[in-house]
Amino acid sequence: MRLALYSGTFDPITKGHKDIIKRASKMCDRLIVAVLNNASKKTLFTLDERKNMVEKSLEDIPNVEVIEYSGLLADYMKQRECKYIIRGLRAVVDYEYELSLAYGNFDISDREIETVFIPASKEFLYVSSSIVRELAIYNGKLDNYLDDYIIEKVRHKVKE
Ligand code: COA
Repeated sequence: MRLALYSGTFDPITKGHKDIIKRASKMCDRLIVAVLNNASKKTLFTLDERKNMVEKSLEDIPNVEVIEYSGLLADYMKQRECKYIIRGLRAVVDYEYELSLAYGNFDISDREIETVFIPASKEFLYVSSSIVRELAIYNGKLDNYLDDYIIEKVRHKVKE
């Protein structure tokens, strides 16, 4: 693949996301990582804060470009002439939701946008941003799930 896109809310970015991004970056010449607003989610971090954390976490991967976007992903991809969405698949529960996103993007792009699934690594099968946020609220251990820099940000944010 020449150009592909991996999107998410990243509230915050976890080691699970990073695992998928690193593996996806080896499958394409350039990978756009899109930090999005999900209309049905109230986030802990602002869009700008989430984008900054994603940039900092991915600074060692040379062919990755981080952008923020609010709107339909298919519209942005059309502007960029990007035809491949990468998504990570964790447990079976992800499957139905991911299928609806994949078919949705396929249909609204007039069958141009394909979704490519990468299975999450075993150690990250049950990681999610909401689990991480909950652990932070109760002062739980976070180093299996988050980079040190992100741990500081999350701990600081939940105290605010
Ligand atoms: N490792 C760790 N966690 C992961 C993960 C991985 N590999 N993959 C997914 N997750 C978690 C996320 O942390 C998130 O956890 P949370 O719900 O507890 O916060 C959850 O899985 C889902 O996350 P994400 O991948 O960020 O998807 P999302 O559902 O928040 O957002 C968008 C999906 C933003 C990409 C999608 O809504 C979108 O494209 N929106 C734009 C509007 C649009 O085009 N809509 C039409 C679609 S057809």
